[in-house]
Amino acid sequence: MPRKNTDLPSTQEPRPGPSAIAKDFSRSRALQARAHELIPGGSHTYAKGDDQFPEQAPGFIARGKGCHVWDLDGNEFIEYGMGLRAVTLGHAYEPVAEAAYKQMQLGLNFSRPASLELELAEAFLDVVDSADMVKFAKNGSDVTTAAVKLARAYTGRDLVAICGDQPFFSVDDWFIGSTELDAGIPQAISELTLKFRYNDVAGLRELLDRYPERVACVLLEAEASTPPLAGYLQALKDLCEERGVVLIFDEIITGFRWHLGGAQKLHRVVPHLSTFGKAMGNGFAISALAGRRDIMRLGGIDHDQARVFLLSTTHGAENHALAAALEVIRLYRELGIVEFLWKQGERLQAGIRDCIKRHGIAGHFEVLGRPCNLIYQTRDARGQPSQPFRTLFLQELIREGIIAPSFVVSFSHSDAEIDRTIEAVDHALAVYARALQDGVQNHLLGRPVKPVNRKYN
Ligand SMILES: Cc1ncc(COP(=O)(O)O)c(C=O)c1O
Repeated sequence: MPRKNTDLPSTQEPRPGPSAIAKDFSRSRALQARAHELIPGGSHTYAKGDDQFPEQAPGFIARGKGCHVWDLDGNEFIEYGMGLRAVTLGHAYEPVAEAAYKQMQLGLNFSRPASLELELAEAFLDVVDSADMVKFAKNGSDVTTAAVKLARAYTGRDLVAICGDQPFFSVDDWFIGSTELDAGIPQAISELTLKFRYNDVAGLRELLDRYPERVACVLLEAEASTPPLAGYLQALKDLCEERGVVLIFDEIITGFRWHLGGAQKLHRVVPHLSTFGKAMGNGFAISALAGRRDIMRLGGIDHDQARVFLLSTTHGAENHALAAALEVIRLYRELGIVEFLWKQGERLQAGIRDCIKRHGIAGHFEVLGRPCNLIYQTRDARGQPSQPFRTLFLQELIREGIIAPSFVVSFSHSDAEIDRTIEAVDHALAVYARALQDGVQNHLLGRPVKPVNRKYN
């Protein structure tokens, strides 16, 4: 019998682990229709939406501990991705929760800054030590948009060049206007954003030649699922400096994951501006824009140039999120978190690759990316990217007690959890291999998932 949420284990005891039993999602099902009535999309983040998961999936999560979560029906899962990669230490990770709670008791938000703002600025700039100044905010979109605005003000130019091979930079119009999902965004805004290809310096040079002295910034993740070719990032920086363009690295994912100081630190190329978020607070809402003093200071009150309205919001520096981030930095240093993420990712990657080999499905299922940030790709019998096969894989993992929209590990994914996941992947890929032979529709229990970035439903 599936367990009900009345017999959830206490927060101190996340065991026993999830098992491959038929799961009852009836409590979740009862709320889903209501959620769609009240919330466009049924959830406040598209990546968590019903269209991103199979029909046989938990609809709502009640609580989490470490890398385990329990849904509304009391089903237990090991999960990956963890708050869209924000929760790098683990759910309800006590030292961070404790640091935030202590600060909450001292007050969240005053009419003058708390000295914590300076304390965290010092700690952050010690980590991202190539930057001179930093400004904190609540999410990745705001800081990345602020970097674009600052670059436009600094250069007096209007165009923005973004890496077209990378999926996401901001919820704001300058970026969303360049995607399929551009309804509600004036064409005049979309036309200001240009795209270049990753690992292609010549292509970027041609783009800059086509719009001489018009491009304010070049914006990219220093690395996403594809690593940079040798010398690429430095050549990009040299080209930007030759053309008076501001180089921005979006480190929202790579920060505190590739390296504590981000991909810029791993690849030893310092951008003019960079943005951090996600992992900074182990799930608490905090992000950062960091960079060179002569650019950042345009947002200050001590110069005689035109002022830039730089990231000034009511909740911009909530004290408990600052306290959480300070504790996260301390823990990263003390516990070697980044090294652990890479090590556990390697264990998982090797195990999954063995499963792929065992089931003879190379070319149809692949695990990609760096060990600290693994994703996977599903292809059909003809080798074409396939949402139905993604759905089948998700469905079979969920049956086994694993939620894995990606294979992004946290500090709470111990060897036991990684090994349990590899067993589950082995089962899921056995079904996948059969579906490659006799058709995915013979195995899917419902409609396939859809990409977030699509024009129509
Ligand atoms: C690379 C990258 N940049 C920026 C963002 C935006 O961050 P947020 O969702 O915190 O606004 C995201 C979010 O997924 C991201 O992956």
